[in-house]
Amino acid sequence: MSVHAEIKRISVPQLMARKGQEKIAALTAYTAPFARLLDPILDMILIGDSTAMVGYGLPDTLSISADQLAAHAAAVVRSTSHACIIVDMPFGSYQESPQQAFANAARMLAASGADGVKLEGGAVMADTTRFLVDRGIPVLAHVGLMPQYVNTMGGFKAQGMTDESAEVILRDAVAHEQAGAFGLVLEGIAEGLGRRITDALAIPTIGIGATPACDGQILVTEDILGLSGDRIPKFARQFADVGAVIRTAVEQYASDVRSGAFPAPENCFGVKR
Ligand code: KIV
Repeated sequence: MSVHAEIKRISVPQLMARKGQEKIAALTAYTAPFARLLDPILDMILIGDSTAMVGYGLPDTLSISADQLAAHAAAVVRSTSHACIIVDMPFGSYQESPQQAFANAARMLAASGADGVKLEGGAVMADTTRFLVDRGIPVLAHVGLMPQYVNTMGGFKAQGMTDESAEVILRDAVAHEQAGAFGLVLEGIAEGLGRRITDALAIPTIGIGATPACDGQILVTEDILGLSGDRIPKFARQFADVGAVIRTAVEQYASDVRSGAFPAPENCFGVKR
């Protein structure tokens, strides 16, 4: 007989039950310190492949690997106990076939302990969503502006601005819902379209540059804290200037090192005070 540890985290079914009841507040985290701070406050934390750009300084999200994301996800899972943890499937780890997607998703979940995966793609990826869900892997699908399609989209551009393209994105969303996705990230789409999709689906939508009508919102944590450099995306809001706090602390540290004020006797071993 096995004894199951009590699960205290917000589960995927609990997130789904939020639809129409209570908004889902989500952010990204890639490391233990951020995850620890975010966990008690948020419903969901995403280990996004945006860490390629935000954490590694790369120009896009295309070159982060499943092993790198799994390592970040393991750090986040180890440092949290409340929020539901979802990890991004990186570019090239799932597009080839549903079998490839399952092998990589299972490997990433086993290595990290995350609760589910997120994958980008329109209706063409719905079979993959179905394959994973049928085999026990919760899927958060991501439609609209899909950063992994940066080269085919010709840049990071808002999507669904014409009636025709809006219909395609609506069909993408419905296809993932029918395939069993537990939720849908709507990124960078026309506001009215986000509203339409949210009304049409029975699963929660989580917006990033979509509409306040979404069932939840997600942003990149560094964007809301003033840690993303000079340019914050139109869809984000800077809620604090943590960069300024860090600069002041580091200036003080450097000045104390240079003046000899740090380390002080209390920072040294074997010094009687
Ligand atoms: O990679 C990411 O951070 C995302 C967003 C939805 C925030 O996909």
